[in-house]
This record gives sequence, C-alpha cells and structure tokens, in this order.
Amino acid sequence: LTAKIIADADFVVAPLDRRIFGTFVEHMGRCVYGGIYEPGHPTATPEGFRQDVLDLTKELGVTIVRYPGGNFLSGYNWEDGVGPKEDRPVRLDLAWHSTETNQFGTNEFITWCRKAQLEPMFAVNVGTRGADEARHFLEYCNHPGGTYYSDLRRSHGYKQPHGVKFWCIGNEMDGPWQICAKTSAEYGRIAQEIGKVMKWVDPTIELTACGSSQRAMPTYGKWEYEVLDQCFDQVDYISLHHYCRNDADDIHEFLATIDDLDHFIREVASIADAVAAKRRSKKRIMLSLDEWNVWYKASGPDDLKKPGWPEAPPLIEEVYNHEDALVVGGCLIVMMNNADRVKAGCLAQLVNVIGPIMTETGGPAWRQTIFHPFADCARHGRGEVLRLKVETGTFPTKAHGEVPNLLATIVRDPDTGAATLFALNRSVTDDMALSVDLRGLADGLVIAGSTQLYDPDLKKTNTKAAPDAVSPAANPTARLEAGRLTATLKPQSWNVISLA
Ligand code: AHR
Repeated sequence: LTAKIIADADFVVAPLDRRIFGTFVEHMGRCVYGGIYEPGHPTATPEGFRQDVLDLTKELGVTIVRYPGGNFLSGYNWEDGVGPKEDRPVRLDLAWHSTETNQFGTNEFITWCRKAQLEPMFAVNVGTRGADEARHFLEYCNHPGGTYYSDLRRSHGYKQPHGVKFWCIGNEMDGPWQICAKTSAEYGRIAQEIGKVMKWVDPTIELTACGSSQRAMPTYGKWEYEVLDQCFDQVDYISLHHYCRNDADDIHEFLATIDDLDHFIREVASIADAVAAKRRSKKRIMLSLDEWNVWYKASGPDDLKKPGWPEAPPLIEEVYNHEDALVVGGCLIVMMNNADRVKAGCLAQLVNVIGPIMTETGGPAWRQTIFHPFADCARHGRGEVLRLKVETGTFPTKAHGEVPNLLATIVRDPDTGAATLFALNRSVTDDMALSVDLRGLADGLVIAGSTQLYDPDLKKTNTKAAPDAVSPAANPTARLEAGRLTATLKPQSWNVISLA
C-alpha cells in the first residue's frame, strides 16, 4: 500500500486545546477505591493516594479529570464527602448498586489533582438535586470566604478556594437508566436556570450542558437542539459520549467505528450552529467529549452490578487488547482533526473501570494497551493542528462502506516549529509506504523520534504477569530528506513520528 500526505504550515485547523487529553474518575467500581485511593497500599501517600497510580497518571499526560460521575453523580450529595471522615454518612449508590463510604470526596479529589498536576472538571447533580445544590457547591469550591459555604470549606482545612473552572450540568440526563432522567424540555429549562445561578456565583467558570449519552439514542439530534435552544446563552459546551464496540468481532468494522466519532462531532457542531443561526448569534458552542473509549467486553449485567450492595466491587474492568489501542489512537486523531470544535475530552475512565491503568488492590499497577496511544498524543500533541490533504486507498466494510486505510494528523508548535505526525494504518494485511510532503514545515528539523505500536496478534493484552506485552517500539524506517518525510507503517499499527 502507498499513502501520501500534503501538509502546509499555512493551513491550520485550529490551536489544539490540551484539555482534550482528559480522563474521568467516577465513584464506580474500583476507580476511586482501589484505584486512585487506597490507604494501606504499599505505595500509599500520607493522604491515602496510590503513588504508583499517581505516577502512571502523570506519565499518561492527563490534563483534566472529570469527577465524581457519571451515573453516580445523579444521586450524589457533595456534602456527604466533605468534613471529618468519621462523620461522613455511608449511603446506597443506586447507580451501581454499591455502598458508598464517602471516605473520598471533593477535597481529597482536589488534593489528588494538585499532586497529579492536572485540572479538575466538576459536575453538579441534576438528577435528585438542582440549582440550590449547584450554587452551594460552587460557593464551597470557588468563593474565597466570608459566606456559609466558603467558610465551611475553610473550616475543613482548605483556606484557598479550589478555583474549579470547568463544570458539567449533570450527566446523561437523556438516559432512562439515569437517576431522575429528564426530557429535553425539562433538562434544557433546568440547565438554563442552573447555568444562570452558577455564573452569578462565579462568572469565570465554563459550563457544559449534557448532550446525548450516545449517537444511537432515539432522541439524538432533537435532544441537542431543544436543550441548546433553552440554555444557549448560559453554556459554553455541549457534551458527547462515545464508546466504540466490537460485538461482531470484526476488525474491519471495528476500525471503521472510529469514523462514527467524526460524524458524531460534525453533527453535534451543526446542530449547535443551527441554534446559533436561529438566534443570529456569532457565539459558537464548543464540544466536550467528556466520556469516550472502547467499551463492550465488560458490559453485561454482572459487570455493571454485583449483588449485596458491596463496597467498591470490580465493575466493567475491561481488559484492552492491541486492536482496542488502535481504535483509541484513531479516535484521538479524529478529536485532534476537529480541534476547531472539540475543546475538551475525557477518556473514560482513568483506572480499573474501563481504564488505561489497571491495578490489583494491594498489588501492582500497570499500563493497559490503550495507555500508549493516549500518552503519545498527550506528550506530543502541542500547538496547532494542520489541515492535511490525505491520499490513501480504502477497504470495504459492511456497515461503513469504503473506509480509508490511513488516518492521520499533524500537530505543530508554531513557536518552535516542532511537529508530530500521528498515523494509524488500518490495513490489517499490508505495510504502508507513507510519504509526507512538508511544505514550509521541515526547515532545520530532524527526526527526533519514531515509534510504532504494532503486534501481529490483535487480541494481545497487557497483564500483571506481562505488563509490557503490547508497548511501543522504534520504527527505524522514518527518513526526512528535502522536505519529505517517508516511513513504512506496519499493518494494524499506530505510529508517531516527531520532528524537532
Ligand atoms: O463510564 C461509565 C458510565 O458510562 C458512566 O457512569 C455513564 O455516564 C456512562 O453511561
């Protein structure tokens, strides 16, 4: 196979918002308890955080983390998770049929974020609660002092405000599984009012309204339009949730699902712009892909709920393989290529629960296969995304028609000129001879790194016994000569070539 890319320094999609390299921590399964927090673990910090998970989170390059849910959010009382730990109530969590001890809450999460050197993204409960809770929680987090809730925070040992900028108004409110789900009319109206009071408490925050919980929802499209029609003036983002599946165990179809994300993003942007057009408004609602991943293997009833209301049971602990890593890499390329509209993203979730990091309670932590493409993008995805011309052959699929073999993006730092090519060869049979014409891009640059994530076995996984079975290796074929980058990409491979 051959493929050709033309890139020009003057043709830019948009600056890349590094918040797209976010993840998600929900009170679900072993994400918090046994994931980021495990007092008594051999690596535990004085606060009870797993240092091994903190180290892997930093290595992953995560920029922002959404918290505390997820479906859990819609029954959560934030007040339960602050103050002296011995006074915190133990509650039934109806979302995951678990027992929530509340030994980890808002302030522990903020402390963990500071240690992990990343930004918190908070969400307010629009299931069982509403505007009153939202304004009080925001006051607790962001108001400096001298009021009931800000002084409550100070009395809990946090003199400085948390300064949380990014807030979500609820979670998946369109889903019948959600605690107190809403119609688009109900949700749009309450999101408008919650957004209004939250921005009165702190006008510096940014707000996300819930979009559809998946593109396949029967209310998709109508939901986005009706919600934004009501809360357009109050919110800055609309959310998208997207989980890729491979139920038919068909690699061609699975690799093609990456393109569904591209359609989803463009459709939601169009609907948001239709609401703007109706108002003759120049405002553009941006997109927050605040849950996305591969998730289909661990999704049966036993994965979602365990009997007996257990504390932190193992739930949806998807074990990722090589083909899943390819799809995650492809989704990252799609997100970067839509940098003009996708301004935040959260790989769901961070650890154990459909996570790039897996732990054993009391034992080690290791990198799942999907860790690698995410870490590559977070490390090298800095600057502006270039608008590429890509010439590539296609492969046939049943559900998606002809699908391009090559998916690629280039991100370039306009200050230094350093640029990175991310490329997915979706052919499962053929090497790809790639040639990139770098117009006005290559002067003074050399190849600073070239890696590939390749395995002939699409089902290979990383395990406790073999934690690095699927991990990147050098690709020695990359050459840069006279403004042309060439490389051979192995079949079913994820590739990263950096120029500096
Ligand atoms: O990430 C797991 C769950 O998936 C979240 O709680 C929910 O928002 C989504 O349906």
